[in-house]
Amino acid sequence: MAEKEVVETSEAQIAVHWGEEEFYHPSAKFIAQANMADESVYDRFSLDNFPNCYKEYADLLDWYEYWDEILDTSDAPCFKWFKGGKINASYNCVDRHLPKYKNKTAIHFVPELEEEKVDHVTYQELYVRVNEMAALLRDFAGLKRGDRVTLHLPMSAELPITMLACARLGVIHSQVFGGFSGKACADRIVDSGSRVLITMDAYYRGGKLLDHKEKADQAVTLAAKEGQKVDKVLIWQRYAGKYSGAPDMVKDRDFFVNDVLKDYYGARVEPEKMNAEEPLFLMYTSGTTGKPKGCQHGTGGYLAYTAGTSKYVQDIHPEDVYWCMADIGWITGHSYIVYGPLAIAASSVIYEGIPNYPDPGRPWRIAQDLDVNIFHTAPTAIRALRKIGPDEPAKYNYEFKHMTTVGEPIEPEVWKWYYKSVGKGKAAIVDTWWQTETGGFLCSTLPALKPMKPGSAGPGMPGIHPIVYDDEGAVVEAGAGKAGNICIQNPWPGMFQTIWGDRDRFVDTYFARYCKDPKSKKWQDWPYMTGDAAVVAADGYVRILGRIDDVINVSGHRLGTKEIESAALVCEEVAEAAVVPVNHEIKGKEPDLYVALKPGLKASADLAKKISDTISEEIGKIAKPRKVWIVADMPKTRSGKIMRRVLASISNAQDEGDVTTLANPEIVTEIKKMVQG
Ligand code: PRX
Repeated sequence: MAEKEVVETSEAQIAVHWGEEEFYHPSAKFIAQANMADESVYDRFSLDNFPNCYKEYADLLDWYEYWDEILDTSDAPCFKWFKGGKINASYNCVDRHLPKYKNKTAIHFVPELEEEKVDHVTYQELYVRVNEMAALLRDFAGLKRGDRVTLHLPMSAELPITMLACARLGVIHSQVFGGFSGKACADRIVDSGSRVLITMDAYYRGGKLLDHKEKADQAVTLAAKEGQKVDKVLIWQRYAGKYSGAPDMVKDRDFFVNDVLKDYYGARVEPEKMNAEEPLFLMYTSGTTGKPKGCQHGTGGYLAYTAGTSKYVQDIHPEDVYWCMADIGWITGHSYIVYGPLAIAASSVIYEGIPNYPDPGRPWRIAQDLDVNIFHTAPTAIRALRKIGPDEPAKYNYEFKHMTTVGEPIEPEVWKWYYKSVGKGKAAIVDTWWQTETGGFLCSTLPALKPMKPGSAGPGMPGIHPIVYDDEGAVVEAGAGKAGNICIQNPWPGMFQTIWGDRDRFVDTYFARYCKDPKSKKWQDWPYMTGDAAVVAADGYVRILGRIDDVINVSGHRLGTKEIESAALVCEEVAEAAVVPVNHEIKGKEPDLYVALKPGLKASADLAKKISDTISEEIGKIAKPRKVWIVADMPKTRSGKIMRRVLASISNAQDEGDVTTLANPEIVTEIKKMVQG
């Protein structure tokens, strides 16, 4: 199986040399104030009490009509949660907080430029802005319940406002990460069938105001070529009332949101009473093929799960100031900047820029100024800040009670710096393991109930029951010291419902391998395969080793190797392309690209650059390879399969093992010389 080759030479190898780590315990002060300090939660959410245990999460929300069936498995593995319930996510994240919290900040938007003022959006203001935007989307853009709309917004207060306006109408939003290219946006417009694109003219990154409108123009043109017409492009302005983009506006297609909003001043829109299982949003993610998959998340289950985990794992209380430094363009931002925190009346910080702008003290100044006490970020940011500003946190007067790490395995040494320097030895840390598909956390410690173990995510969340299978389907027991494919035995409310428009791919990718009976309507027969390899210690703590499929995690961003390879093949000179992960001190992984050219063509630096630029255009700068190696031929098996494992060993300067059985072993020496000198 081609998928397995990559992981054998990558994540697992870095992880195996980690020894067992000592436990760290949360402080008595933390435990005394925690939202969940009742040990019986694990019993209440045991498999014996499944699925009824999830009533506790559903009851964190306001329902128009209470549900009558907690879990409908009749269309397994497309599970439906809280059937019969009627609910609106926008109402739950905004309106219902007004009686108590209307004057409390819902969103602190922090511009990247330090000289610009922080925008504190209260719940009342959020209510007004969401309503006016919803009216615009309904009456000006003609959007209605069940329609899809693509958002390509940078980090801004306008992004959650737009999402919540969509949710109010029952319009399914599909937010594309702002750093993705116009082409990547076009692919998602086409797949979701969006006829409206919502974007922003510009945003700051690394101190520069970047034009973002150009990408909208490309996206619309490319989508049209593939048969999807976008008839309206709605453009928020980075500076309201002023256009900061470069390209001209297209008449009758492009509209400034701020201008049109004037017609909706004071408008109020009744939230749609959505069926609990109606989709809330799509989030595209990478997999084993070149085509990204639109993970479809439902309304009631997703919101209940993100609200519950925000409360009990993130330990957010309404009086806390919570900052998740992820991008809302990824699932972390959807679940743990927007929906989960706002559902429980948090004050959520949104930062526009990069962590080290203008210097690595920036995050800690933001924390100090806003009095942030809950901080959430990814190992890649922690590694970078540790490298460039190890002594910075001590210079600022902030105090975190709680911190999160998410998105990649964290090395114990890096974890310890996070704990000692960033958390000043006082904060409880949760290492949360989950995925775009899962909507919310799968494994983590409940911070007041379980001690922390550096490098391990922790046990399954209450109500999440992991199981590790080997390739033959036998269970690998906890404490066996062996890695296997980690699956979840049961469905849970935050789980995605399907892949948009491709149920077969949903079933094949996530369930087919360990399904006990494809005709079964019982959830017990449908373990969810996560696609990660993991080792479970005797104490039940899970250490994630990385992907078993062709996915590379670059700076916590999930990219498909096939996606990058297909982008390289867009260059007509390229005959074959192979992408392998290379270990990187800060980013975790970087893609290395090997290409073989069509006959008669010669390698050159210009051509390598052209290939690299094509990848940026097709996907986005985050997918740019570390290096493009133009090779005479790829190492291949006798059956003609490219040996990515061998290329990965060469890129990582590791032993490539026995290559004598290859069809062309001599090429390995040649490539090795080229790459390693
Ligand atoms: O390999 C796991 C890794 O990130 C993958 C999911 O990526 P994505 O869908 O982009 O979602 C990222 C945010 C949840 C997983 O399959 N991953 C995620 N969290 C962790 C992790 N690896 C180790 N430790 C984690 N805490």
